[in-house]
Order: sequence, then structure tokens, then C-alpha cells
Amino acid sequence: MTFAGPGARLVGTGSALPERVVTNAELAAKIDTSDEWIIERTGIRQRHIAGDEETTSSLATKAARTALDDAGLEASDIGLIVLATATPDNTFPATATKVQDALGCNGCVAFDVAAVCSGFLYALATADSLLRTGMAKRALVIGAETFSRILDWDDRTTCVLFGDGAGAVVLEAPDTSAATPQDSSASGILASKLHADGAQHDLLYVDGGPSTTQTVGHLRMRGREVFRHAVVNLSQVLHEVIEEAGVSVSDIDWVVPHQANARILDATAKKLGIPAEKVVVTVQDHANTSAASVPLALDTARRDGRIKPGDLIMLEAMGGGFTWGASLMRV
Ligand code: UT7
Repeated sequence: MTFAGPGARLVGTGSALPERVVTNAELAAKIDTSDEWIIERTGIRQRHIAGDEETTSSLATKAARTALDDAGLEASDIGLIVLATATPDNTFPATATKVQDALGCNGCVAFDVAAVCSGFLYALATADSLLRTGMAKRALVIGAETFSRILDWDDRTTCVLFGDGAGAVVLEAPDTSAATPQDSSASGILASKLHADGAQHDLLYVDGGPSTTQTVGHLRMRGREVFRHAVVNLSQVLHEVIEEAGVSVSDIDWVVPHQANARILDATAKKLGIPAEKVVVTVQDHANTSAASVPLALDTARRDGRIKPGDLIMLEAMGGGFTWGASLMRV
């Protein structure tokens, strides 16, 4: 799927993290792992884990409220909610509808997108395309997860890697009269590319579901193979988006990647030829929060002043399916 030209504009960001922080040392006291191994192989130092009262929808709602405040908007200004998650509150209805009700913008379009760690990129491109059609004026795009609920806490090869959280952005429909499709100085989404390859299903999946086992299941991953595919696929899609938008790598101010592993971030940046200082890294604090990781990192870097108005930022992610995608945006 491809969209080119200035699209929806980013007008606000927000995020939410569970209060409870779990350090590597705390995990090492329970399973056969160590702080040294986790830091050296992944860069992760801690993760946030949802408490009994916290759910994907409660984290998503908090992140959405913060994003609305940042944009100076009310929930009633929103006409579309697209929520990316692989850990919905219930199999159905969509978690987006729970968030909508909690925010109080009942009546607007609200649905979930399931593309696991690439979910936010899929949700962003979907919302952008719907805003371009005039279906709504403003959208909330949310990535929210409680992966702690689908982890096998006895499997050291996966349970140390993930965390819970939510991130949200507010998008505004493009002003089509203001810029030509080639104008990369205009604010908005300049280009997005999405891909999927279902042949790689068994490398990263959950071994349960309503239609198969009637259980929720646990996350299973062949990490080394996923790592290899991630670097290749991400490099490819980043180049596709750069070409589509008609910019060069040196024009990019910040890369905001999916935070799975610091070594993947390093390898992908090197392959793209972008300096490590231009990559937003939050994996040490949040671990891998799946669909929440890109909007969480984006909100972190906007609030600490790294990402400034006018910057050209590249968002990218890869996850189960496989699915992967990237989006270039002038903020
Ligand atoms: O978000 C979706 C995308 N997901 C990803 O991008 C994840 C991609 N994969 C990765 O990030 C890495 O492959 C991992 C972090 C999952 C694993 O790192 P690795 O360098 O590929 O390690 P490995 O799987 O090759 O395992 C190396 C060794 C093994 O021991 P042996 O067989 O060499 O004796 C593992 O059993 O490390 C062992 N090991 C651990 N040791 C201590 C695996 N997990 C742990 C652990 N603590 N938690």
C-alpha cells in the first residue's frame, strides 16, 4: 500500500505507562537470566508492567487524553479512532470502542487494527488515508498493549523482552489547497509503505486464539530469525519511503523506530546510513511494547525537546505476521 504527498498533520502526542517498573534484576531473581545478558543482547534495563486494574483500554485512554490536551482539543473534536493492539481487552468489541466511550466521543468511527508490533504504522496509514478522503477531520491513532498478559513467564527467551504501555497521536486532515504532492517542506505525512508476509507466521505468533484453542495463548518467537528478517525488511521499506517522498537520507532529522532491540536499531541505522545520534532510543526504559512502542518513543522525544516543529521524522516497525512498514512525516 502506498500513499504519497502531504497528508494528515500531527497536532498532538501523548503516552501512558503502568506505574510498576520491573528491572532486569527482579526478573533474574525469578528465572535463569541476568541483567548483563539482557542489557548486552537487547539494551533493555527495565519495563513497565500493568497492575491488576490496568488494561489495554485504560492505558490507551490515558495516552489519548494526554494527546488531546497536547493538541488543545476536546474528545468531541475527534471523528475517527484507530487503535492498534494485539492484546485487546476482549476478543470483541474493538478496544477502540471502549476508549471512545471513556473519552466521551460516542458516535465517531472507532475500530482496532491487528498488525502486532507494526500495528501503529498500519493504524497511522489507515487513519491518514481515511482523513485524506474527508471521512473525518481529526483522528486519534493509538498503539496500546498489555503484552505482560500473553507472556510465558517461564520462557526466558521471550519474557524479558516485552513491556506494557500506550502511545497516541492526534492527526488533522490535510489542507489540500496548501501544498502540491511534491512539496516535502509542508507539514504532514509525506509517504507511507506497508508490507506483510504470512509465510513467516511461525517465527513470531501467539499459540492460542478463539477460533483455534479457545484460549488466549502465549507469545512464541524464534528470536534470531526474527532479528535477521527485521534488519533486511526495515532497511528495504525505509528506502522505499525515502524514494517515494523524494527526499534523501540526510534530510531526515529523526528516526523513531519500533523499540524491539537496541542492536536492531543500530544495525538498521547503519544500513540506512543515518548517524546513531538521530535515532530515538527508548528500549532501555520501556522494552518492547509492540504497537505502543513507536508512539511512546515519539511522545518521549517531542516532550524532551528532541523532535521540534518542522523536523522530518521517519517512523518504522516490524512485527509478527510478518508485517512491517514505515512512514515519513514533517511535524
Ligand atoms: O517486536 C517484534 C520483533 N521482535 C524482534 O525484533 C526480536 C528480534 N530478536 C532479538 O531481539 C534477539 O534475537 C533476542 C534478544 C530475542 C535473542 O538474542 P540473540 O543474540 O539472538 O540470542 P539467541 O536467541 O541466539 O540466544 C543466545 C543464547 C542461547 O543460549 P545457547 O543456546 O547459546 O547456550 C539462549 O538460550 O542466549 C540464551 N538466552 C538467554 N540467556 C540468558 C536466551 N534468552 C536468555 C535470557 N537470559 N533471557
